[in-house]
Amino acid sequence: MVLFGATGDLAKRKLLPGLYHLFVAGLLPEEFRVIGSSPQEFALSDADFRTRAEQACQEFGNCKPDESWDSFASRLSFGAASPDDPAPLVTAVTEAEKAIAGASSNGRRRNGSHAVGRLFHLAVPPAAFGSVVTMLGSSGLANEHSRVIIEKPFGTDLESSRKLNDTVHAVFDESQVFRIDHFLGKESVDNVLAFRFANGLFEPIWNRQHIRYVQIDVPETLTVEQRAGFYNATGAYRDMVVTHLFQVLGFVAMEPPTSLAAKPLRDEKSKVYDALRPIDVRHVVRGQYEGYRSIDGVPKDSDTETMIAVRAEIENWRWHGVPFFLRSGKALASSRQVITLGFHTPPVRMFRTHRVDAPTGKVNEIVIDFADPGSIAIEFMAKMPGPEMTLGTGKMTFRYEDSFAASNALEGYERLILLAMLGDQSLFTRADGIDRVWEISQPLLDSPPPVEPYAVGSWGPASVERLIAPYKWYLR
Ligand code: BG6
Repeated sequence: MVLFGATGDLAKRKLLPGLYHLFVAGLLPEEFRVIGSSPQEFALSDADFRTRAEQACQEFGNCKPDESWDSFASRLSFGAASPDDPAPLVTAVTEAEKAIAGASSNGRRRNGSHAVGRLFHLAVPPAAFGSVVTMLGSSGLANEHSRVIIEKPFGTDLESSRKLNDTVHAVFDESQVFRIDHFLGKESVDNVLAFRFANGLFEPIWNRQHIRYVQIDVPETLTVEQRAGFYNATGAYRDMVVTHLFQVLGFVAMEPPTSLAAKPLRDEKSKVYDALRPIDVRHVVRGQYEGYRSIDGVPKDSDTETMIAVRAEIENWRWHGVPFFLRSGKALASSRQVITLGFHTPPVRMFRTHRVDAPTGKVNEIVIDFADPGSIAIEFMAKMPGPEMTLGTGKMTFRYEDSFAASNALEGYERLILLAMLGDQSLFTRADGIDRVWEISQPLLDSPPPVEPYAVGSWGPASVERLIAPYKWYLR
């Protein structure tokens, strides 16, 4: 595996600790090597890369200096590569493959040669995707046994996404391309499919006849200080909505696929995107937290949104008339990741004449919290114990640890890297789906409403509440 961006933030926080965890869990191939890569100016020696990886695994993973660490570290090396000078990386890959060939007894083919799979992970700024892929082609590093993992955001609009696809397809066949969206690797996002399609209880009510609205809400308390350059060029819509939130929406809204294999699953997701209406900018709120423009690296007149709320509509049989409210942003009141489905109220209010402690008009909600470890809660009206018919809110909650004794849980990135190694594309995004999301986003990209200021630690500007009226955000 070649890890481009090996000295970057993502490698440090997620990828190196994730690879180590997969190794300890016994999920990596018997013989593997991980080669860190970066442009020449950030090049490291093998020893320095190992030290960095160890620090990353200690800080962000569960690594202790022991035998398993030493064994993992012995498989790490570094090879710098710039678009015009891939030589050090080519050498590092050749050496790693020689080592694998020497060590492996079961990778031998009949004719005596070895087919070593090469997995390239592009954890680099989006502007560098194209040049790295082209370099992989021209240097001969990419071959028929290669796969490439590409980070988000995939393009910045429809045109750039198509162009990037052309560049990628000049080197890799689509079957070798793994566009990663780590939300799809989250246990409780995947569990949406199980919840819907493995239970006779829920799927029959998962439609416009029963559901009034859907919310996909991912507020974060985090500010953008460490990544001002990337963030100011990207903004909340491209960073979170185009990628993660629309992927989650795909799982919530899709028709039952004929199987969970990559093609039928991704076909059904694409049909949802085909049915999305172009974003109506009258139903968009863009916010910017107070103080954002004083951050180093952010222009004083920046118009980048640090928070966004959007009303999306899916014009198909199942979802006609059901608004999907998507919200995400930085420096908000809480860090949560929540899907909320609000249900219609019963047609007759027979409880009106009774003393009521909770409003009987309250909408039943299914609340899927998909921040690890995740939970599902269903709130419903219940008779409170006592002589009178007084209603209160009851709550049923599913928590993984209550139902499943041992946890084999992998973090989102770990799960997805493993699937890419296995060649399973089912939880990776497909070009047509991404293109369509960019297409429906065009009205917003062309004429974004002005950003409205909001206080750090709030839920965003007041218009966020107006956007969802007459409903209410579950998180508030
Ligand atoms: C990343 C975004 O893709 O997802 C970040 O670039 C965001 O801005 C992050 O904070 C949230 O994901 P998680 O799973 O780490 O909460």
